[in-house]
Amino acid sequence: GLGLSLGGAAAAYPERPITMIVPFAAGGPTDVIARIVAENMSKTLGQQIIVENVAGAGGTTGSTRAAQAAPDGYTLVMGHMGTHGAAPALYPNLKYDPAKDFAPVGLAAGTPILIVAKKDFPAKDLKEFVAYVKANADKVNQAHAGVGSVSHSTCTLLDAQLGIKPTLVPYGGTGPALNDLVSGQVDFMCDQIVNLVPQIQAGTIKAYAVATPERSPSLPNVPTTKEAGLPDYQVSAWNAIFAPKGTPQDIIAKLNNALVVALDDESTRKRLLDLGGVIADKPGRSPQALNDLVVSEVARWTPVLKGANSK
Ligand code: MLT
Repeated sequence: GLGLSLGGAAAAYPERPITMIVPFAAGGPTDVIARIVAENMSKTLGQQIIVENVAGAGGTTGSTRAAQAAPDGYTLVMGHMGTHGAAPALYPNLKYDPAKDFAPVGLAAGTPILIVAKKDFPAKDLKEFVAYVKANADKVNQAHAGVGSVSHSTCTLLDAQLGIKPTLVPYGGTGPALNDLVSGQVDFMCDQIVNLVPQIQAGTIKAYAVATPERSPSLPNVPTTKEAGLPDYQVSAWNAIFAPKGTPQDIIAKLNNALVVALDDESTRKRLLDLGGVIADKPGRSPQALNDLVVSEVARWTPVLKGANSK
C-alpha cells in the first residue's frame, strides 16, 4: 500500500545525490558554512550533497525554490536569519512562510556580526567611524547582500541607531561584496564573521567591532561594540538547513542525524570555529529548536525592520 511504499522510500533514502541550495553567491558566509557542513554530512548519508548557488532578492529566490521543491529530501536550502527571519517584514509578496512552508532540519552555525570597512576608510576605531559616517552620510556607501539579507537587516539596525542613510550597494551575496570592500569599491558593511576572519587576519579590511557580548576567540583583537562605545548595537545571525514542508519525518531524522554528526566531527568543528562560527549545543540542533528559532526571529525582526524602514 501507499504507507508501505512511502516507508520503503524513506528507509532507502538517500539513493542519489542531494542538492543543497545556497540562496546567495559563492564565497559568502552561507556558501562557506554549507560547504563545510555538507562535506561531512555526505559521508554519513553515503551520497554527495551538491551545493547550488541560487542568488537573488536577498536569498528569497533560492529559498522560494526550495519551499516549492518536491518534499523528498533531495532538495534542501541553507537558510538564515535573513531568509527565515527578516524577509517577511520586507517582502509583502514573499512566496513562503519561513515557519509554515519548510520542514526544519537543524541549526548549522551561529554567526556574530561585525562592522567592517575598506582598509583606508578614514576612521581608526568605532567612535571615529560613527562620527565619520554621521558627518559624511551622503557620500558613504554601504554594501549588502540584497534587501532582507543578514548584512542588509543588521546594517539597517545600525543605520537606524546612528540616524544615517548611507547609499546602499546591493550584491548577490557578501562574498562579492567583500571582494569590493577589499578593493576599496565600497566603504563599509555589516557581515557575518565566517566571511571576514581570513581578510581581517590578512589586514585587507578594517574591523571596528563585533556585535556580541564577548569577543570572538577567532578575532581576539577586535573589540565588542560595548567596549568600543556602541553598547546598544548587539546582533548575531545564524544559518540552518531546511527541507520543503511535507518531507517525511524519517528523512528529516536522517538529515538531522547527519548534521549532528557533522557538528560533533573534530575537523568540521575546527573549520567552523576557526572562522568564528558558533556551534549549537545538542538540544539547540533539533528540528524543533530550529522551528522555535524561526518563529521567534520573525517576531523579533518584523517590528524592528518595519520601524526602521518607515523612519
Ligand atoms: C547575507 O548578508 O545575508 C549573507 O552574507 C549572504 C551570503 O551568504 O552572501
